[in-house]
Amino acid sequence: MIESSSRRRFLQVVATGGAAVGVACLAAACAPTGPTGTIQAGNVSDLGVPSLKAVPNESLAVGRDANGVYALSLICTHAACDMETQGSVSPEGIVCFCHGSQFTANGAVLSGPAGSPLEHYEVTISAQGAISVNADKTVDAATRVQPAG
Ligand code: FES
Repeated sequence: MIESSSRRRFLQVVATGGAAVGVACLAAACAPTGPTGTIQAGNVSDLGVPSLKAVPNESLAVGRDANGVYALSLICTHAACDMETQGSVSPEGIVCFCHGSQFTANGAVLSGPAGSPLEHYEVTISAQGAISVNADKTVDAATRVQPAG
């Protein structure tokens, strides 16, 4: 009798805890939320033309084309997979491994299920070429920054 009651109590605790975790994930979004704040994203001398590189441990990429340097989110606009870890990033484009969406190197949707382009962020480049991304400020997808010199 005691043993059965303890077992029942144990199962109640496990079930309640599991449900709480499940609700927390739904409410607080277990999916990554995207980059925030100011992020140091390497040096412009490491970016050829064209190039697009994921910034390690950040959900963003920096790219460079004939018009300059830019930064964009790697959070897929379909279901928020972080393509820094669950995708491929190259000057040829970005692929989400979760459900197969494809984006151009500038973040435009090539094929779904994603229906929206990737967000671009404000970039500044120091006189020494250090790239800084302000992930709290979005900019138009055509925005580019020219390196000094
Ligand atoms: S989350 Fe990227 S395709 Fe679904």
